Amino acid sequence: MIRTPRLLLVPLPAGDHLRLARGLAPRSVTAPPEFLDGPDPVPAWLHERHGIRAARDPATARWLLRAMLLPDGTMVGHIGFHDVPSPSGVALADPTFEGTVPDVTGPVAEFGYTVFMPHRRLGYATEAAAALVGWALDEEGIGGVLATTALHNAPSQRVLTHAGLEVIGRCRDDDGTPELVWWRPGA
Ligand SMILES: CC(C)(COP(=O)(O)OP(=O)(O)OC[C@H]1O[C@@H](n2cnc3c(N)ncnc32)[C@H](O)[C@@H]1OP(=O)(O)O)[C@@H](O)C(=O)NCCC(=O)NCCS
Repeated sequence: MIRTPRLLLVPLPAGDHLRLARGLAPRSVTAPPEFLDGPDPVPAWLHERHGIRAARDPATARWLLRAMLLPDGTMVGHIGFHDVPSPSGVALADPTFEGTVPDVTGPVAEFGYTVFMPHRRLGYATEAAAALVGWALDEEGIGGVLATTALHNAPSQRVLTHAGLEVIGRCRDDDGTPELVWWRPGA
């Protein structure tokens, strides 16, 4: 578990990833009635992949999606890496990537986050992203962390800037929408 001044970032069990893949709230935490109240930015296939991975090897759950919890257990959003660290990272291996590939020797991990509507603009994403990135870069041998944001997503870009990431290029998401690729190297 990762602790921030106001939040706990808690790995989810396999069954909860599979529930998220079906648009259902996790069972192991107290999701609010207004859970998501909009499209989930994490695609169902990714939740499903996390479920399968966490079921096969529960130790990988710390690299997958986590619930963002208030101390009373209320889930205000979710944050996590897309997968365990890999040699090139998903965004850098993306054929649509255009930019400067960082000179990196260790494995790379890519992350994303969502804060549910009633809890936005309270600094939770900023707090959670900084803590998750700090945790990952403290893990021995991590070469760096990656994230992508839509060009128009100014709040998310503020979050990544606060977490110490910088833009290294562009790519396109599954729908062809242009995105910025963000990077922070390990120590
Ligand atoms: C992006 C998102 C996670 C931000 O969550 P949040 O907890 O509201 O963010 P924070 O409160 O930490 O705010 C971060 C910055 O964005 C600004 N911001 C937040 N929402 C904003 C809005 N609607 N309009 C303008 N600025 C906004 C904040 O003022 C803050 O700016 P600052 O650093 O200059 O003070 C949230 O809007 C969300 O879940 N969006 C949908 C999913 C998404 O886009 N995920 C990111 C994919 S990589």
